[in-house]
Amino acid sequence: MRVTHLSLTEFRSYESVDIEFGPRVTTLVGRNGQGKTNVVEAVRYLSTLSSHRVAADAPLIRAGAARAVVRARVEKAGRSLALEVTLNPGKANTVRIGRAAAKPRDLLGTLRTVVFAPEDLALVKGDPAGRRQFMDELIVALHPRLAGDLSDYERVLRQRSSMLKTAKNARGDLTMLDIWDEKLAEIGGRIVAARRAAIGALAPYVKSAYAAVAPDGGDCRVSYATSLDTPEALAADASAATIAARLLERLGELRPKEIERGVTLAGPHRDDLDIALGDLPAKGYASHGESWSCALALRLGSYDLLTADDGPDADEDGEPVLILDDVFAELDSGRRTALAERLSEASQVLITAAVAEDVPEALRGEVLTVTTGKVTADD
Ligand SMILES: Nc1ncnc2c1ncn2[C@@H]1O[C@H](COP(=O)(O)OP(=O)(O)OP(=O)(O)O)[C@@H](O)[C@H]1O
Ligand SMILES: [Mg+2]
Repeated sequence: MRVTHLSLTEFRSYESVDIEFGPRVTTLVGRNGQGKTNVVEAVRYLSTLSSHRVAADAPLIRAGAARAVVRARVEKAGRSLALEVTLNPGKANTVRIGRAAAKPRDLLGTLRTVVFAPEDLALVKGDPAGRRQFMDELIVALHPRLAGDLSDYERVLRQRSSMLKTAKNARGDLTMLDIWDEKLAEIGGRIVAARRAAIGALAPYVKSAYAAVAPDGGDCRVSYATSLDTPEALAADASAATIAARLLERLGELRPKEIERGVTLAGPHRDDLDIALGDLPAKGYASHGESWSCALALRLGSYDLLTADDGPDADEDGEPVLILDDVFAELDSGRRTALAERLSEASQVLITAAVAEDVPEALRGEVLTVTTGKVTADD
């Protein structure tokens, strides 16, 4: 799939801008702070309704503006589709797909993107929360309706945790807690099952992507790390119901501790993605360059998995738009060559770079120049 046209109104630094993307590779070039990342961030927002830079939407709306609008025309499986999202501060987004108003959730999965950015180093070096977000974005790209489970889980978790806090003081009736346990386990079981399946499917792609970007680097292995305490008790293909039953049991075991501490101690919000290089965990052991290659392999692996995806929720055209935000300056020639191979096959790649020379000429494709609020095609 690819984005042929993007139009931004009051998004980030743009009052109003219209951009046509040519076929295949487009490189956005401009000095620091001119608005290159803002453009690709808008494309990503249309696909996930979130940014790769900030957790909240407020910074995406131009300072002083009442709302922001992102519109795009997407070509997918031979059809052309208009997508539009309006960001309303403090209120829900409004979305249109084609001519029709739609629920924000319906937009998810329509346009697929994979973004690789300097922030991704935190996938390897940072806290588990970033890796959980990585997994959750992957499962929603594969099965968009899981977005509902993820937001329901957040809500149930919050309510259950506040109930744990009151249980400590009030003692007494714990039947309500039993009900929340069941809800948490049921939704949590579906999330964990989807994450385990996605990571299982992703692992071979990450391994081969790592071998391509770091040929002398050994094996990069990813696996799901569970907070259920007995991973061996769960078969690799354990169903959501089996995992839910185990989670419910675990919550029972942990209850005294949970009431004491006022937090929910098991469930997908406590799980992690293990990344190993050879026999050692990447976090804490891998060098800077190795960590960078791991992060790149996670993204390229996701790209390959989504492209190959032919599961029950898959589209005819699952190949994501690949976005490389400000990463070329960091890549050595070996990694550039490995990337170049993928760029030559991909239907659309959007690259940002402060100077065009950071991107090898053969890879640049069409160059657009970005200068404060304007995007212009080079002659
Ligand atoms: N909500 C907003 N309202 C107005 N301006 C904003 C808003 N959010 C960001 N900006 C401005 O956008 C600019 C940053 O744009 P962007 O991150 O796209 O730069 P860039 O071209 O990618 O730069 P770099 O090469 O440093 O990565 C900054 O000058 C920032 O002040
Ligand atoms: Mg940038």
